[in-house]
Amino acid sequence: MEPAPGHRLDDASLQRGARNFVNYCLGCHSARFMRYNRLTDLGLTEDQIRDNLILGDAKIGDVMTTAMRPADARVWFGAPPPDLSVIARVRGADWLYNYFLGYYRDPGSATGWNNLVFPNVGMPHVLWELSGTNRLATAEFADHEAAAAAAIANKSLALVEPIPGGKYAVRTIANETPGSMTPVEYRAFVGDLVNYLEYMGEPIRNKRISLGIIVLMFLGVLFFFAYWLKREYWKDVH
Ligand code: HEC
Repeated sequence: MEPAPGHRLDDASLQRGARNFVNYCLGCHSARFMRYNRLTDLGLTEDQIRDNLILGDAKIGDVMTTAMRPADARVWFGAPPPDLSVIARVRGADWLYNYFLGYYRDPGSATGWNNLVFPNVGMPHVLWELSGTNRLATAEFADHEAAAAAAIANKSLALVEPIPGGKYAVRTIANETPGSMTPVEYRAFVGDLVNYLEYMGEPIRNKRISLGIIVLMFLGVLFFFAYWLKREYWKDVH
């Protein structure tokens, strides 16, 4: 897999990710542990949130819900779209990033799409106009070492699978038709989106990490004084 490029302190990336999320995901998925006004964490004002990120008639204090009913979704996609509030805690950022790189055309599936990291996924490739369409490319190798070497040399998403005949297949994604974005722009778009999903999984994370550093520095200073005091007490004994 390719590593996800996001950074937790990059507010501009998180803001773009929030925009991508409400524009492309909220139509099917909810984020019902996330309130719109919490997005002030990302350096946005409540007015900016109201004007740019709230699409329906939701209020600023509401949680991010979706208009789609789970029962309808089950009929349309075979599986209801799961709530995405904590999806990054379950899947991890790298998995999510590669999930959006891993879509390819599959005429045999119900939606016409399949995915290299989520086989037989029920979700269509909702970003295909940006990314363009991809197809699955398969190369065969006689032994596992050669297949693994080819997968690593690919420098992008690649899956090594044993196939009948004692051989190994390396499955990769190959571009078919270009999208409205270049591959570099599309990766940046998805990187921002995944950065936002990761933020949403634990909005307090930045505060937790900076508080942790302050506590450790405090303990470091305390250690110095405690050791000094110990030396003072034991001076008479030694
Ligand atoms: C057209 C409706 C639709 C849209 C729009 C959509 N999804 Fe989905 N998504 C689904 C469905 C349906 C599933 C369930 C697929 C399954 O379980 O096979 C799903 C599954 C997922 C999963 C896998 C969850 C898991 O771990 O099982 C992730 C992650 C995800 N969506 C993220 C997103 C993101 C991020 C966006 C916005 C870019 C988005 N989706 C937009 C319908 C949609």
